[in-house]
Amino acid sequence: MKVIIAKTAGFCFGVRNAVNTVSKQIQQHSDKRIYTYGPIINNEIVVKDFEKKGVTVINSKEELEKIKDGVIIIRSHGVSKSIYDLIEKNGLTVVDATCSDVKKIHKIVKKESDEGNLVIIFGNPNHPEVKGIRGWVKGESIVIDEALDVDNLEISHDRKIVIVAQTTFNYEKFKETVEIIEKKGYDISVLNTICNATRERQEEARKIAREVDAMIVIGDKHSSNTQKLFEICHNACKATYYIQTLEDLDLNQLESVETVGITAGASTPNTIIEEVQRNVRAIF
Ligand code: F3S
Repeated sequence: MKVIIAKTAGFCFGVRNAVNTVSKQIQQHSDKRIYTYGPIINNEIVVKDFEKKGVTVINSKEELEKIKDGVIIIRSHGVSKSIYDLIEKNGLTVVDATCSDVKKIHKIVKKESDEGNLVIIFGNPNHPEVKGIRGWVKGESIVIDEALDVDNLEISHDRKIVIVAQTTFNYEKFKETVEIIEKKGYDISVLNTICNATRERQEEARKIAREVDAMIVIGDKHSSNTQKLFEICHNACKATYYIQTLEDLDLNQLESVETVGITAGASTPNTIIEEVQRNVRAIF
């Protein structure tokens, strides 16, 4: 009987940087109010822990507008340009914890749209990262999520199209969708902006899920990259369980299996992964 833990499970460099940034700001500014624009990462436990240490989460532009003093930390998912403008206008201190891989996309879409090209983003239109990316596009942009019927998508042929992806988009899906659009004869430039951390995590999860009898995916319910991991693992192994913490796992379900794989999203703290791992090993 075997338990395989993904080497890529847990915090990626962008999330680690964001969490460390908040910790550092708490230490350096005991005299100031500290805010994060949106939850710093997609993990309720981490966010609540910072709240206990005095950090306040701002959830909208309207809330930001009312703040006249303090430090605003931009979360790892990034925000639109208008948020930076507002922070500057209100004379607040900005500390940018946007992941460098997300920043790269902001630069691409700004430059391309400034040149008059049409930006298409593969991703979830309701996800903060995608909303932030759109906020750097001059003019309109199109978001294609996984459920959209690309075959029937009507886009005019008179502009060059630039395709980017949300950093956590499913790589296989990205390739398939690009192929469909390419066949339609547009003038397109494709920039695969899925981050390496995500790609490696997805590949490893797929590989493990193919080998095991049951798979456990740990991560917050709001975490896009954890949702994608679950889909990938579930396609390869029907007995895949999506849990936020050990409490969500029914260990009885694992009693008759011989091999269990464990992976976790980019914003899942190590303490949770370790706890799940210890308890799963204990039943074998
Ligand atoms: Fe950055 Fe990718 Fe993590 S975009 S925050 S390294 S999942």
